[in-house]
Amino acid sequence: MKIAIIGTGYVGLVSGVCLSDFGHTVVCVDKSEAEIAQLNSGEVSIYKPGLDVLLAKNAAAGRLSFTTSLADTVDGAEAVFIAVGTPSRRDDGYADLSYVFAAAEEVAKALTGYAVVVTKSTVPVGTNRKVADIIRIAGHEVEFDVASNPEFLREGAAIEDFTRPDCMVIGVEAERAKEIMAQIYRPLFSQGYRI
Ligand SMILES: NC(=O)c1ccc[n+]([C@@H]2O[C@H](COP(=O)([O-])OP(=O)(O)OC[C@H]3O[C@@H](n4cnc5c(N)ncnc54)[C@H](O)[C@@H]3O)[C@@H](O)[C@H]2O)c1
Repeated sequence: MKIAIIGTGYVGLVSGVCLSDFGHTVVCVDKSEAEIAQLNSGEVSIYKPGLDVLLAKNAAAGRLSFTTSLADTVDGAEAVFIAVGTPSRRDDGYADLSYVFAAAEEVAKALTGYAVVVTKSTVPVGTNRKVADIIRIAGHEVEFDVASNPEFLREGAAIEDFTRPDCMVIGVEAERAKEIMAQIYRPLFSQGYRI
């Protein structure tokens, strides 16, 4: 399955690398040209034990690539993970969701067929209703569903946390989205991890 990851920060990069290691074809996009150039040369900017080795293995196998083109990333993907930052706002401490909403709008314009748009960023309850509204308004009548799949990685133990989670949280309404999420995480489902 082709999977798109928006944002190659800590969460997006670990998710992209681990999902490609599950056997999926993963394309990761980031706005930072420097970050993408570094990743394309096999370098990982923050120290994450083992990540560089997994990245090199899956990139060499043709399952993992990095680009600055969101359109190329989303084209043909059955799942699009939004993994952009949600920094606390200086005035009131609430999560700044502007990057999530901007990414949703860009994804909506780039979708070429049905996809599940998965929010992986840490967001308050209700955010996916807004994400769905944004895609409906900005998109061009392509079918989609939204899903929630919040990340609980600890810095330094990210691969372990992704591939051997205490539990995983996936929220979907549509059956079609549920099936795609089940396919994505089949290696974990089949080992009996709590979902
Ligand atoms: N870092 C952690 O340990 C951790 C753990 C669990 C959850 N989270 C949550 O996961 C989310 C991501 O965290 P992070 O630390 O990976 O963030 P980050 O800020 O390190 O990385 C986000 C990346 O997204 C890119 N980006 C933003 N908008 C984009 C767009 N429209 N198109 C392409 N790229 C875009 C940025 O350039 C940046 O590289 C946040 O909501 C965070 O709270 C983080």
